[in-house]
Amino acid sequence: MKVFLLMIACFVPMVALADGEAEYKYREGIMNSAKGHISSMGAILKGQVHMDNLQIHADGMVDVAGIMPDVFPAGSQTAKSEALDAVWDDAAAFKEAMDKFVSASNGMAAAAKTGEMGEIGPAIQALGGSCKGCHDDFRQEH
Ligand code: HEC
Repeated sequence: MKVFLLMIACFVPMVALADGEAEYKYREGIMNSAKGHISSMGAILKGQVHMDNLQIHADGMVDVAGIMPDVFPAGSQTAKSEALDAVWDDAAAFKEAMDKFVSASNGMAAAAKTGEMGEIGPAIQALGGSCKGCHDDFRQEH
């Protein structure tokens, strides 16, 4: 019980601090998860190694895509953030870019399931294109 209370005591200040900075940090983590999965899939396909893991990364990307729409709350554009104002000012276009990514992730997971390179190749191209499509319009690299 004492340990439990101690844990609560540690968490409370963190909750109190949950702000734009914390949201930004979490978003960075999510984006880097996306990067990890797509670069792992690229390495698998290029080197023909660990082919059995392709599905795991593709499914992982579907999970990331399930989270990504929620990691751009208002007020999370910190000084370090590379997100352009358009994320919030042009919410409809941003949602469109996000939807493309979500459906490309689903497409990649379905393609991986077939095990056919003819399906997998175009699916990963579309997935990578959906990252770039959003970054081109909504991210300014520092
Ligand atoms: C709908 C828009 C959108 C999609 C889709 C998207 N990103 Fe991003 N990404 C952003 C924005 C905006 C930022 C800048 C966020 C910030 O700095 O606050 C970013 C930042 C990043 C970063 C930098 C993270 C850091 O450490 O600062 C990486 C890496 C990244 N994205 C990878 C990806 C990959 C890989 C995909 C596709 C699998 C992807 N993103 C899909 C909008 C998107």
